[in-house]
Amino acid sequence: MKNTLKLKTIDVNEDIENIKTAAEILRNGGIVAIPTETVYGLAADAFNGEAVKKIFEAKGRPQDNPLIVHISDFSQIYSIAKNVPESAKKLAEKFWPGPLTIILPKKDEIPAETSGGLDTVAIRMPSNKIANKIISLSCPLAAPSANISGFPSPTAFEHVEADMTGRADAVCDGGDCEVGVESTVITLVGEVPTLLRPGGVTLEDLQSVLGDVRVSDAVLNPLKNGETAASPGMKYKHYSPKAEITVVRGNIGEFAQFVNNTSDFDGVMCFNGEEKYFGNKIIVTFGSENDSFSQARRLFDALRELDERGAKKAAVRSPSKDGVGLAVCNRLYRSAAFRFVNAFKRPIVGLTGQTGAGKGYVGEYLKKLGCYVCDTDKIARQITEKNSPFLGILAENFGQDIIDENGELKRNLLAERAFKNKDEQLKLNSLMHPEIIGISLERCYDALGNGASAAVIDAPLLFECGADKYCDTVISVTAPEKIRLERIMKRDSITQEQAKRRMSVQHDDEFYTEKSEFTVRSYGPYDIKQELKTFKDKYLNN
Ligand code: TXA
Ligand code: MG
Repeated sequence: MKNTLKLKTIDVNEDIENIKTAAEILRNGGIVAIPTETVYGLAADAFNGEAVKKIFEAKGRPQDNPLIVHISDFSQIYSIAKNVPESAKKLAEKFWPGPLTIILPKKDEIPAETSGGLDTVAIRMPSNKIANKIISLSCPLAAPSANISGFPSPTAFEHVEADMTGRADAVCDGGDCEVGVESTVITLVGEVPTLLRPGGVTLEDLQSVLGDVRVSDAVLNPLKNGETAASPGMKYKHYSPKAEITVVRGNIGEFAQFVNNTSDFDGVMCFNGEEKYFGNKIIVTFGSENDSFSQARRLFDALRELDERGAKKAAVRSPSKDGVGLAVCNRLYRSAAFRFVNAFKRPIVGLTGQTGAGKGYVGEYLKKLGCYVCDTDKIARQITEKNSPFLGILAENFGQDIIDENGELKRNLLAERAFKNKDEQLKLNSLMHPEIIGISLERCYDALGNGASAAVIDAPLLFECGADKYCDTVISVTAPEKIRLERIMKRDSITQEQAKRRMSVQHDDEFYTEKSEFTVRSYGPYDIKQELKTFKDKYLNN
């Protein structure tokens, strides 16, 4: 146990003596918890491997998880990064000092302890005045969040005190952190800039400077088996309070009904003003529903509060993913170990039918009724576009040469290989279908979260790919052969012969009627409104 010095560092001028003390401890190889605008950091001299080792011991942090080097002046970047590309300068100009971390190739002077053994290094210039002063009076500082590894990051001095007393040489009291979630991490190593961790600088902000920015799959998803983390921090259990957290999706009415009927939940984490919906529960709020910044600021404190008040199992409202909301979701999903429950009372609807039967027209009508319509054909195109991570999976299974030197999919070559025999065709389907279904469902849940009256999965092969299993109900659209034939010829400008060939591989009407709750006709004299009346009355009028 260390004798930990407590230093008040609220004001740069008034508290300058304490700031100097902190800087001196750091220059001498000690570790000090310092405030930043994102979360508190546990700092050490970034160039001193022995000092940096103490951070890992104090936090109980895995050794291969690299640290961020914090600077106070842009010129310091040249002593840390091997080269500084134009894109890094542009980002720095716009967002530094501030909550953005940039990953670049590292100089040899940065020890392996700091970079977690990688040949790259993460760099950030915090805007917090106390942090800036401590760095300028000492040196560039390696600093992870000042929590015990795995716990929520500290955003208030009480959190740091609780986690780091006895572990750090000193803890600085700089009040509450403004942003509340850790910095955005972007890597500029590699072909396309990639967002590894969302934060206070949003994806939209980054795109406004760099144009194309990829989002690492790990931002909103657990790592798949055998997948390596682009950012080692993503692979660890993270931000977890002791209480078991479950993200319950639905609007406040659906959420409250579900949670109040589930006695298992003794805790609730809801948005401001929603406390009144819950009876006998431990209730904690985390910001306003329509203000992601307020959620970011409150998130970690709210998670810690659940523990302090003794909650064992807590249901948490599902925030929007827009803007800073992406950072809130990224942290919250991890703290919940990706445990989700859907409390939607509004349905997921499958929409299918033969080509030319008028499915598109029905979809347009449903949109007018406030439904979200997810176009699976479009998703199939998106996941096979250049730079889509899914192309890598296809290449692994069908040969690397199906991707050309520009990174584009050679569609004909893939088709040739996949349609060679039944097994290969099944293999392609077994890769494509779950991917498309997964993305469709995610989009549907988002849309329901944003208030859609129903989410519709528009899929010509709804039954064939097994997506109907995820639907509460299915609408099929049918039309007599003659009408379909005319529509297809007109729509795709093809001959009768070609249109007939296409239609011949399709199922007949009975196939659809048997498998669907609703069969509708979208041709005269029938009227879509009348055709969908029972569906509408049953599902959309609440
Ligand atoms: O806001 C913040 O960034 C806070 C404050 C203290 O500045 N710091 C912070 O550090 O959150 P930490 O260590 O908790 O998170 C650093 C993240 C980890 O996910 C780590 O894996 C990633 O950045 N990282 C660091 N260096 C990296 C590198 N060379 N390549 C890829 N990821 C890296
Ligand atoms: Mg951390």
